[in-house]
Amino acid sequence: MKPLRIALTKGRLEKDTIELLEKIGYDCSTVRNKGRRLILPIGGGEIEAVLAKAADVITYVEHGVCDLGVVGKDTILENGTSFFELLDLGFGRCRFAVAGKAGYDFYDGFKAKTIATKYPNVARKHFENKAMDIRFIKIEGSVELAPLLGLADAIVDIVETGSTLRENGLEVYEEVVPISARLIANNASLKLRKNEIETLVYKMEKSLNETE
Ligand code: PRP
Repeated sequence: MKPLRIALTKGRLEKDTIELLEKIGYDCSTVRNKGRRLILPIGGGEIEAVLAKAADVITYVEHGVCDLGVVGKDTILENGTSFFELLDLGFGRCRFAVAGKAGYDFYDGFKAKTIATKYPNVARKHFENKAMDIRFIKIEGSVELAPLLGLADAIVDIVETGSTLRENGLEVYEEVVPISARLIANNASLKLRKNEIETLVYKMEKSLNETE
């Protein structure tokens, strides 16, 4: 039988995902000692883990070259919906927020405002019905720089501990939506490999309930 292929988000979510897979009984030593390898058999080859950037996890799952994926709700909200969201994994908790320089009233007045963000779709949707004249600028990282340098009036970004904002004299103006890691599945895989996927989801759910 072909291994079930799961795309894992590299970086922030990687450690918690591996811990969850180990907790439900899969030997993940190949991932822990991966070196530069990108496709890694786990649990004796029953599952094949692929390590990818968050947005690419969605691309691989949508195209069906990976059956499953672990990715943040932030990336899901920004990048697509042509897949099945199976489970809230509970880790990678943070939130989208509108933020900017402390003490500045972003919502005051009718002047056009500028928002810098790595997530233009999420930002646009949030301001869609707010009757504000807003221009959006896409930034690739360290978005907090934009209001500090005078490029933007505010940002729409992920806030986890709040340290990045605090240490740069910025504050949250408004919470947008809570975020956590999700298990997603390719639509066809969900039908073709129903039993294997259901078994895995059941094990994950059980382990998540135990740790709650
Ligand atoms: C994210 C986000 C904030 C920071 C928030 O950036 O864009 O900058 O984390 O975390 P905190 O509230 O715990 O300080 P990330 O580190 O992923 O890198 P990036 O800025 O390059 O996108």
